Amino acid sequence: MTAPLTGYADRISVRAGEKISFKVSSVGPGPYNAMLVRIVRGDPNPGGPAQKLEDESELFDGRFASRQQHAWPGSYALIERAAEVKLPAALSVEALIWPTLPEDGPQTVIARRDAVSGAGFALVLTPDGMALECGGARIATGKKLRNRAWYRVWASADPTTGMIRVGQQPLKRAFAVYDEGEASETAQDLVIDAAQPAFIGAESAADRPARRCFNGKIEAPAIAGFGAWDFARRIGTMEIEDTGPNGLHGRLINLPTRAMKGAAWSDSERDWKRAPHMYAAIHFHDDDLHDCGWADDFSFTVPKDMKSGVWGMQLRCGPHRDVIPFFVRPQVGKPQAKVCYIASTFTYQVYTNFSRGMFNDAFRQRVTEWKAAANNPDEHKDYGLSTYNFHRDGSGVAYSSHLRPLLTWRPDFLTFHDQAGSGLRHLPADTHLTGWFDRLGIAYDVVTDHDLHEKGAEILASYKVVVTGTHPEYHTKETLDALQAYTETGGRLMYLGGNGFYWRVALSDAVPGAIEVRRTEGGIRTWPAEPGEYYHAFDGAYGGLWRRSDRAPNVLCGIGFSSQGMFVGDSYRQSPAARDNHHAWVFEGVKDELFGGYGFSGGGAAGFELDRLDHRLGSPLNAVVLASSEGHDRKEFVVVHEERLGFNTTITGDTLEGLIRADMTYIEKPKGGAVFSVGSITYCGSLPHNKFDNDVSRLTFNVINRFGELGLKWPF
Ligand SMILES: [Fe+2]
Repeated sequence: MTAPLTGYADRISVRAGEKISFKVSSVGPGPYNAMLVRIVRGDPNPGGPAQKLEDESELFDGRFASRQQHAWPGSYALIERAAEVKLPAALSVEALIWPTLPEDGPQTVIARRDAVSGAGFALVLTPDGMALECGGARIATGKKLRNRAWYRVWASADPTTGMIRVGQQPLKRAFAVYDEGEASETAQDLVIDAAQPAFIGAESAADRPARRCFNGKIEAPAIAGFGAWDFARRIGTMEIEDTGPNGLHGRLINLPTRAMKGAAWSDSERDWKRAPHMYAAIHFHDDDLHDCGWADDFSFTVPKDMKSGVWGMQLRCGPHRDVIPFFVRPQVGKPQAKVCYIASTFTYQVYTNFSRGMFNDAFRQRVTEWKAAANNPDEHKDYGLSTYNFHRDGSGVAYSSHLRPLLTWRPDFLTFHDQAGSGLRHLPADTHLTGWFDRLGIAYDVVTDHDLHEKGAEILASYKVVVTGTHPEYHTKETLDALQAYTETGGRLMYLGGNGFYWRVALSDAVPGAIEVRRTEGGIRTWPAEPGEYYHAFDGAYGGLWRRSDRAPNVLCGIGFSSQGMFVGDSYRQSPAARDNHHAWVFEGVKDELFGGYGFSGGGAAGFELDRLDHRLGSPLNAVVLASSEGHDRKEFVVVHEERLGFNTTITGDTLEGLIRADMTYIEKPKGGAVFSVGSITYCGSLPHNKFDNDVSRLTFNVINRFGELGLKWPF
């Protein structure tokens, strides 16, 4: 279902002088309004911290004509130059395929035909076996193909004799399954040629970019005397290479998955870089989506003196409203504040449009009552899935693009129907922190993960303190290296979340706007990568948990993911170390030894996902636990898979109960550097409690005031 009013921007972050363009789809009625806002607090909970989207209409305010723009999911290869080349007198076409939804309606393996006249051909997978469609003629084998088995498929058509033929042969036979066959007949007036682009994994359509998208893998498609495409080449790109004399190279539309095991794969090799011929398949899905390609509605050039921060373009049309967030970053080496807040845009992007299947009537009613972001991914799958979802064919989603409406990446989006709080995650949850900065008068710049990846540690060098949000889970080598270097050279890091620095992701200059994750080996995850498909296509690195590359989160921040639970939070208890002379400053003004049993995320500061100190995983020897959480109900929390061995045994030798906790940790580093970590996703939800006057708020203030050398007074 298309959303009545939504859109996206061409980029995530901008700095002064740069332009950002917005692409909008609006059903109307009448024109829509677009107005700039500064996103301070997004939480729409009427009992929560008052929502604050500051009116910045002086900088941008406009009315624009409504028009609908559509997203067209479904991946395929497009060979545009094929329109210029004639077919030989007779057609002979073949491919290797590994179908994943063979029972579904027609799915085209390879085609070149005129969508209006029908001239040309299409080799099509159908529930009735492989079929050749050629002009008005059609022939099928009548033999069903199996799911997830490799077949050689072929077809031919000769206008001179009128003979058409189609066939399929499994590379491995299955006992008592009759899925091999060929059919032929003669047809009149065959027109095999059409001066049209060729498609692999779909075919041309009159009313949209493509139709009949294929689900499954295709390898080595070839049209005799015309083109032969080798998907083992250019694996790290969205191009395909024709090895035939016509050089009909093509491009991939909507991010089908590359570096996938092909028909020739064996377990003698698991890295596509070492044996590309074993990874000569591309996995296409009819729900892949990369760049919606919408036309620009308007653009905004960031004025020279615009403050770094979290900004948004608010759209309104009749009863409909949407806000497209973006970030204004400072210029490298020209900070506007002592504090740098890192927006976890990698994590926002991999989660974006996560369809959780939880949007029921009660939840919908709360969204309406709270006037929260209206578009839930459960109801708008046409904007593509998240890397937390399976594709419709049961394979995992490995790519996510930001060049599409990002429904969950909104300041007022509700993720959970949270009975104890607001149920926010990601950007909206992180506004509990930016709203706290605002209330306590803490000036801050914003740098996104994407900026950090591109610029490295240099972009952090001018700041006294760098602060994360609630869930900085996904990182590239570049972002981790930058943060590590920052803390080793006098920088001070506050990690105010849980389950941070956990998964490895990849970006690629060859695939703009996209991010890749492979959910390999283990870890708390929503789909499993297939054996032999653990290396990223984008950068060739071994994907999965950073821990599997011997770089557990503990190395950077002293703690790492230990337990996941329901979206509920409990309290921390101060440790004896909190009271020694060296650390007492952290707890100055903190009233209770047991603190944080309140908040707008799950009702407590320590909740949902919890991190724990572990020297074996790289926690520095001088890391000090200042407080640990307690009170978690075993029935509502589990120990992460990677710490478990058997039914109730763990790698550390502790009981399961013993590993369900968050350790608030302090580490001193060389040259005056330091790291403070809280190890809980729900922590920042407690900052606004009691109008920001509470123990969690106070101790966070103590740390940022000292780390940032801010010289501020506690305002309450
Ligand atoms: Fe997560």
